[in-house]
Amino acid sequence: MSLIWKIFCKVKIWRTFCTTLFFVVALLYPINRLHIEVTRQKIASQAVSNKRTIIESVHPVDNGYYLKGCEQQKLKGSIEVDLENAEQNYWVLSNSTSPVEEASYNGTFLGPTIRRDFAADIYQPSLCRPQQTIAIIIPFRRREYHLRTLLGHLIPVLRRQQIRYSIFVVEQTGEEIFNKGRLMNTAFNFAAEAGRTMGTPFDCFIFQDVDLLVENDTLLYRCSGDKQVDHLSTRINKFDYEYVCCGMTVGGVLALQESQFRKINGYPNSYWGWGAEDDDINKRLEYKGYKVVRPESPLGRFTMIKHERDKQNPKNYLNIPKMAFVWYSWEDDGLINLKTKIVGIEKYPLFTKILVDVGAPVFTLHT
Ligand code: UDP
Ligand code: BGC
Ligand code: MN
Repeated sequence: MSLIWKIFCKVKIWRTFCTTLFFVVALLYPINRLHIEVTRQKIASQAVSNKRTIIESVHPVDNGYYLKGCEQQKLKGSIEVDLENAEQNYWVLSNSTSPVEEASYNGTFLGPTIRRDFAADIYQPSLCRPQQTIAIIIPFRRREYHLRTLLGHLIPVLRRQQIRYSIFVVEQTGEEIFNKGRLMNTAFNFAAEAGRTMGTPFDCFIFQDVDLLVENDTLLYRCSGDKQVDHLSTRINKFDYEYVCCGMTVGGVLALQESQFRKINGYPNSYWGWGAEDDDINKRLEYKGYKVVRPESPLGRFTMIKHERDKQNPKNYLNIPKMAFVWYSWEDDGLINLKTKIVGIEKYPLFTKILVDVGAPVFTLHT
């Protein structure tokens, strides 16, 4: 940076520009921090007053989200997170060979792919007809152990909740720095189209990190209303279950209806590497007037499987400052200008994998 400063700002004509830029950034940063803090306080006070959320989640049937016959008799409440057992369960559920006997197993194996000509698989509970069909979208690259563990843990929960669902894992191909927003947008477009093609349009899209395991099965995986979106993962063990760690985030597990996602123009495409794309989404929701419903503890509790920051997903120092300009950029940066390429579709017993070439950044700033 200092080299750029020296070369660039030694030229006289640029000196005024550089100084102005410096003061603008120096001014915007504290304003942005202040805004974050105010929003954090607002969210925290909403959570305390929003008792309705708790009632909805504990007695879902009373709210008419499910048709008769879908009563969730078997919900357990707080559930154990057993990583080893969950991974084993993945193989049982996928009706696949155990990895120990699988010659090609090297830790990244997800089971054999299966040939299917239809767009996706939908899990349908046998005894009832749920009101909503849910698409679960999981951004992914080189986290096979996490994926097996997540699905081995989550799928029994979804089945107990008697939800009609389909799972889409969206994988970034190549070695370029990770771009979660582009993956989410591409998977959303694919899933929305697939749902319509199959005659079962998705009512709700749940964006779910691959390493977050729900700790209470009465937290329903669904969208709760037209004027609100649901942030499910509000208390994560990594942050000692403190209420939303950084004030403005809706990261982790977020549920929106198709029209809501379209109205906010989806995720930003321009955030490369780790950080702030979820804070950007939060601003979009605010601009569009959507309330973010957050379950009270212990319902929003999640375990994050321990991990290091991925090599190809470093913290990008350009992401946080970009937050100050979301008001200006959000309408042009998202579903509307998405340019990615789906390079493959793989069907596994429990999910559909979408392989995506997201392109490359013009410039990033990371160590
Ligand atoms: N992710 C991935 N591979 C990567 C980077 C990210 O699969 O190389 C996905 C994965 O779903 C992960 C999410 O992006 O849970 C968010 O990244 P990360 O877990 O590093 O962020 P954190 O929430 O832990 O700060
Ligand atoms: C980042 C978010 C992240 C949050 C929690 C914030 O500083 O901008 O992207 O979700 O921290 O880790
Ligand atoms: Mn993580």
